[in-house]
Amino acid sequence: MHSIMKSKLISILVFILASQFSTSLNAAGKSPYEEMAFELTALFRAYRATITLDKKRIHEPNTYFTKENIDQRIKEMHTEVKLKYKAMTNKDYPTDDYSFKGRTRTTLEKSFEKTLRDYVTGYVSLDWKGENKFVKKWDGKMLPARFASYAATNFNKISEGMILIKLTSSEQLLVNVNNKPDDWENKVIDEMIYQTKNNNVAFVEKQEKDQYRFLIPEYYGQGCIHCHGTKEGQLGNKIHPTNIERNIYDLAGAISIIFKY
Ligand code: HEC
Repeated sequence: MHSIMKSKLISILVFILASQFSTSLNAAGKSPYEEMAFELTALFRAYRATITLDKKRIHEPNTYFTKENIDQRIKEMHTEVKLKYKAMTNKDYPTDDYSFKGRTRTTLEKSFEKTLRDYVTGYVSLDWKGENKFVKKWDGKMLPARFASYAATNFNKISEGMILIKLTSSEQLLVNVNNKPDDWENKVIDEMIYQTKNNNVAFVEKQEKDQYRFLIPEYYGQGCIHCHGTKEGQLGNKIHPTNIERNIYDLAGAISIIFKY
């Protein structure tokens, strides 16, 4: 579709969404924005999980993803995402591309595809450019957060700023300055920093004059703790800017979502 038409369509959809959603709550007491933020986050995580759960995709991306097989790889990943999304939300993956949810899903899908295609054509670099030299040990690796933050950047471009998604963390844990939290995000994450999955509220919400914002916490699971944990033999103290103790199930950061209306 032509990009001006597309941008008009997105604006209209967002307008409809805003006018319908500002007042109504669903049966679970969630506003539709909140529900949308949850679903968008689940879908985002489902895509990231396709990377996290397959070591070849993280550690050998240059042989796993090639120009020749990228279409097939993307197809396989979409199939995995559908199953993961269903397992995470108990809902079917939205398949249409005209409802707001469907369009958001399409945008996310495109942004993940673009990340992988940009990678195989050499447009995306997986080399570390930050200050912390230790992190260079993962040069060329498709770390889950790396993949997710390229995909989020693509998502924000494709949605033309109407919905923004960002993976972030507290300044105390921040590895990549490109994921830097704003003041509100940093404050909220710091307030929750000693919480674990079992006793945490799922959501923090903020409404400003032209936007709804959500912060959806993320916790370390088994697959994360070798790098982010601070027990002996783990690498957390080498990658984080402070020595704050991190264990499995501790708060890792948050996915920040902004709906503009
Ligand atoms: C192989 C080591 C490794 C693993 C495994 C890993 N991380 Fe990371 N994580 C990193 C590095 C290195 C960065 C910075 C990467 C970059 O942007 O290039 C990072 C970035 C992040 C960020 C973004 C904020 C920031 O500090 O830049 C979050 C949040 C995060 N990781 C959480 C997790 C979670 C949750 C998991 C498990 C699902 C996980 N990580 C698995 C090493 C790892």
